[in-house]
Amino acid sequence: MFSFFSKKFFLKDLLEDFVDIHNHILPGIDDGAKNIEDSLNLIRKMQELGIKQFIPTPHVMHDFYPNTDETIGNAYQNLLEALDSKTQSKITINPAAEYMLDIHFEKFLKTNYLFTLKAKHILVELSYFQPSINLEEIIFKIKTKGYIPILAHPERYSYYHNNLGYYEKLKQLGCYFQLNLLSLSNHYGVSVNKTGNYLMENKLIDFVGTDIHHEKHIEKLSNLKLNKKSKMHLIEIINNTNQTFSVI
Ligand SMILES: [Fe+2]
Repeated sequence: MFSFFSKKFFLKDLLEDFVDIHNHILPGIDDGAKNIEDSLNLIRKMQELGIKQFIPTPHVMHDFYPNTDETIGNAYQNLLEALDSKTQSKITINPAAEYMLDIHFEKFLKTNYLFTLKAKHILVELSYFQPSINLEEIIFKIKTKGYIPILAHPERYSYYHNNLGYYEKLKQLGCYFQLNLLSLSNHYGVSVNKTGNYLMENKLIDFVGTDIHHEKHIEKLSNLKLNKKSKMHLIEIINNTNQTFSVI
């Protein structure tokens, strides 16, 4: 039987002119695009989803992807040189980074310039395996330096799933939250999906991003369906993301 409330909507219908603040499309410097061809293919397919402004956020993770201004700058230049002028005229690409808040980050924060998403916003991530011992202290230091921390995919840190109140504490400390769009499906697991929806429904999510690493992520995004309630929440968050980070 048809029910108004069971009607489903495609996520991709909300992505026209979306500003993607989290993706791994720069070639060869992390676990995202492997080479330039791969980057170009991802950009083409993301354009088909409606994305026009790209903020690539390669991992800066001391032990696995020790990226610097130089590695990120070079990958960005290589990509720009490979993009045809027609595509360049239709999109913007402004590189940033996704900083792992590990023990090396504090040293990095003291000595280095950080890539921001726009103005003072920096994208940060945590280990998936264990909570950071000094997370609250690091957030304080980031803010003292004049940056605004945005925590990437808070819903993916399973050690907080049974401690939902801690999310509110992080927000009170001045941390903003970016949800991964694929967390609104079971792509990362049922518990991530449930926590993502909890955070969204409780108005704890500020921004969304794709976190695209490869083509399968794009296929899944393009097939993702939402119920009416999720759609209403998401429209608001997508608007906020676009308004905050658009450079056009
Ligand atoms: Fe990421």
